[in-house]
Amino acid sequence: MPKVRFEPSGIVAEAKVGETVLDVARRSDVPIESVCGGRGVCGRCRVELVSGETEVTKEDLKLLGKRKVKSGSRLACRQRVVDDVTIETPEYLGSSKHVILESSEKIHVHAPMVKEVLIHLKGSDLEKPESIHSQLMMALKGAGHGRLELPLSALEALAKASPDGQDLHLVTRRDEILKVTMGGRSGMFGVAIDVGSTTVVAYLMDLSSGNELAVHSLLNPQIKHGDDIISRITYSMAAPEGRKELQDLVINSINQLIQSCCSSAGIDPQDIMEVMLVGNTAMHHSVFGLDQRLLTLVPFAPVTSEALEFKGRELGIRIAHEGYACALPNVAGFVGADHVAVLLASRLDELDEPHMVIDIGTNGEISVGDKNGIFSASVAAGPAFEGGNLSCGMRGAEGAIDHVTIGKDLNLEFSTIGGKRPRGICGSGAIDLVAQLFLNGVIDSSGRLDHKSDPERVQRRDGEWRYVLVEPGNSAVGREVSFTQEDIVQIQFAKGALHAAGEILMERRGVEKGSLAGILLAGAFGNFVDPSSARSIGLLPEIPIHDIKGIGNAAGTGSKMALMDIRRRAKARKVAKELTYVELAAQQDFEDRFYASLYFPHMDQGQYPEVISRVRKRL
Ligand code: FES
Repeated sequence: MPKVRFEPSGIVAEAKVGETVLDVARRSDVPIESVCGGRGVCGRCRVELVSGETEVTKEDLKLLGKRKVKSGSRLACRQRVVDDVTIETPEYLGSSKHVILESSEKIHVHAPMVKEVLIHLKGSDLEKPESIHSQLMMALKGAGHGRLELPLSALEALAKASPDGQDLHLVTRRDEILKVTMGGRSGMFGVAIDVGSTTVVAYLMDLSSGNELAVHSLLNPQIKHGDDIISRITYSMAAPEGRKELQDLVINSINQLIQSCCSSAGIDPQDIMEVMLVGNTAMHHSVFGLDQRLLTLVPFAPVTSEALEFKGRELGIRIAHEGYACALPNVAGFVGADHVAVLLASRLDELDEPHMVIDIGTNGEISVGDKNGIFSASVAAGPAFEGGNLSCGMRGAEGAIDHVTIGKDLNLEFSTIGGKRPRGICGSGAIDLVAQLFLNGVIDSSGRLDHKSDPERVQRRDGEWRYVLVEPGNSAVGREVSFTQEDIVQIQFAKGALHAAGEILMERRGVEKGSLAGILLAGAFGNFVDPSSARSIGLLPEIPIHDIKGIGNAAGTGSKMALMDIRRRAKARKVAKELTYVELAAQQDFEDRFYASLYFPHMDQGQYPEVISRVRKRL
């Protein structure tokens, strides 16, 4: 059998003759981007052939171009393995570190759905023998509890009670007894899980004390079937087993995370009584094994927008036998329970003045509102801000250029994550770079690179202009790190869509330009991006910098809040039900606003007086 060696991971896998490199990579858990799911149309599964031979296909030539194919680039989904080969996978996925962000808020209040009840069974005598079950019901009644359902697993535990009387520790949820323990208290724990398209994060919470005991994260294993949601939906619909396979992948990662959290905290997963899940609508449906076909059809409605709760075991989640897996409600096909969690954490519905909340991940969600109402939309704006779609893009991992400044004499300075030699550029670095290029006149307001402004760094290669940040000899990967004209276009598309969406939401919500009291940025984007750079390129409206704040992993925070406090859970349902969802594709003015927003900072420069005055001062 031929062998495929993947670099830089060093993973070696055996391949069946004729199997594609992408399939071998998927089997071996080597992440390779595959936006089209391996159909040979997206060009995103590009890898480098280091040694060995594979046949060049017409798709390689069409999507990568003759020059790149000649230098060894190949499409992983088209390369059929016939002999031993060594393949280098791109930095973008291979080096992801799954950074776990701090929560924006500590969970002080807790009023969990799950409760502890201590009961004394009095025992019974020979003259009037009473079943343990009736003794329990009498004791509960005496302690002021209503009738509680007793599942078989709890009844089995009761069978071990002493006939002479006994102290029992019960864990209850609504009108159900979840667990019976004798001889001391058992633990009562919950796990809040943020199921992101890229990363799954789990927070183990002590439901008695409200303390966070452990946090673990994993790369979402579904990523091997496509970075973006649409390819995964396509994969799940292509064959009957596709949906089940994706569900198994994500459920396995949830179980792995629960196990890791429990091992770190030294507790038994059987003491986990509730799991609270949040995720975008597609991930939500995937976790519950729901057909995602409706998400691809107009009007892109979810199967359900109700809060859900099932026994964890129905989904294959390994917690207490009677434990529950719950999910916050979705709003629309592309505004899911994760955004509801973000809104819960941001408390947008309680604010007196209008704010904008932005959560950019693989996709972007944006809301505008206050206590008088919230308008929300979904924007296709994610990958470029996460380093995807960019020629030298990578996620925020060691060696990623994360901050850039360009001085008056056009001297370039940058920092890399971990202070390592540069490997590529991540989202925050890309936004900084574009802002600095614009403020220093290296790109004009249309985004065009002006080679005359900095002939040393603006170079033309392979028929395209690029700004060279790092020469091959100085990079960690032996290739230059540069930012091409096409990369700038990707940033323009992403920021244009986000800006246009913000404008529409503000207008529909009746918020005048200039009257936005603040912008709250959720997730990694909000944590690492420089607000000043984001404002300089027109990604954010021009409001004072101190009114733009990062709110950490707000989806995770919202999930924890819902797990720990039933009032917050009710609040999430209310927010999801009452907010107004705006489908941007149905808004006639979206396109015009989008094109106007492609300019730096905007076609209407009057919206950005401070940015324009900085540009004028520098030039
Ligand atoms: S071309 Fe899309 S995955 Fe290969």
